[in-house]
Amino acid sequence: MRIDRVLIIGADGMLGRDMLNHISTDYSVIGADIDEVDIAVQAQVDEFVTSQKPDLVVNCAAVSSADECEKDTERAFQVNTDGAVNLAKACKRLGIPLVHMSSDFIFDGTKETPYREDDSPNPLMIYGETKLASETEIAKVFDEFIIMRPRWLFGFNDKSFTRFVLRKVAEGGPVPIYHVELACSAYTLDLADGIMNLVEKRARGIYHFSNYGYCDRLEFAREIFDIMGYDKSRLQKVRNKPASWLAERPKTIILSTEK
Ligand SMILES: NC(=O)c1ccc[n+]([C@@H]2O[C@H](COP(=O)([O-])OP(=O)(O)OC[C@H]3O[C@@H](n4cnc5c(N)ncnc54)[C@H](OP(=O)(O)O)[C@@H]3O)[C@@H](O)[C@H]2O)c1
Repeated sequence: MRIDRVLIIGADGMLGRDMLNHISTDYSVIGADIDEVDIAVQAQVDEFVTSQKPDLVVNCAAVSSADECEKDTERAFQVNTDGAVNLAKACKRLGIPLVHMSSDFIFDGTKETPYREDDSPNPLMIYGETKLASETEIAKVFDEFIIMRPRWLFGFNDKSFTRFVLRKVAEGGPVPIYHVELACSAYTLDLADGIMNLVEKRARGIYHFSNYGYCDRLEFAREIFDIMGYDKSRLQKVRNKPASWLAERPKTIILSTEK
């Protein structure tokens, strides 16, 4: 079946918004967020998805903050796991595929070489558990899914690390960076292209996604400073993790994207 109408759920979020804007030239794209449909509610999902007559659903909706997931575990599972399953069931009924966003946080970060798609998961925090459960439960519903596991998204939305750095620069004074995590990052527009490439190839299954290379957050921030021509002496290495971090984070996750 030719893909024309793409329904993006979570379209007010970072990835959803960037993907909607990016692929709108090639596809007829419908965006929806929690004001239109709460994916945790099966009846709402069934009614909304059916009414939009999509050829493809892309689920970018989530409780995407690992710390929020620690604060409200029940809601985290309702949205990240049950919501994904509700969308899978609706897609199955309509005979269309689902693209679902999982996360590299299903891994514990102890592997010294890049993680492959079939490596054993071991989430350290609730967010990772909700995403791992979403993968397992979608696969019980049907086979017509593409599950993406990206890392460190950066895009045009205010929530990205890049925006955090730019905001701190604008506020004046030092720019504090807790640098310990080592990871690869993924540009939302490249991820959107990657998703649609897989869709057009009729690929199915689980895929890692990141841009080339890896770094820690301080190196990432240095790169931003270089590009923007800022004074790097304002960068301040912070040794203690931010007080707002409730969720344990894996120290190093490099994703293999060979598949
Ligand atoms: N950002 C990253 O670095 C990263 C890394 C790996 C994987 N991911 C995954 O990639 C996907 C996109 O991430 P993102 O950073 O774009 O997330 P985001 O900016 O937080 O966007 C998620 C959107 O989903 C909405 N939403 C929340 N609950 C919903 C519900 N029950 N029904 C419908 N919409 C709901 C949110 O609305 P509210 O804002 O009003 O809650 C928000 O607009 C997520 O699945 C995330 O877990 C992200």
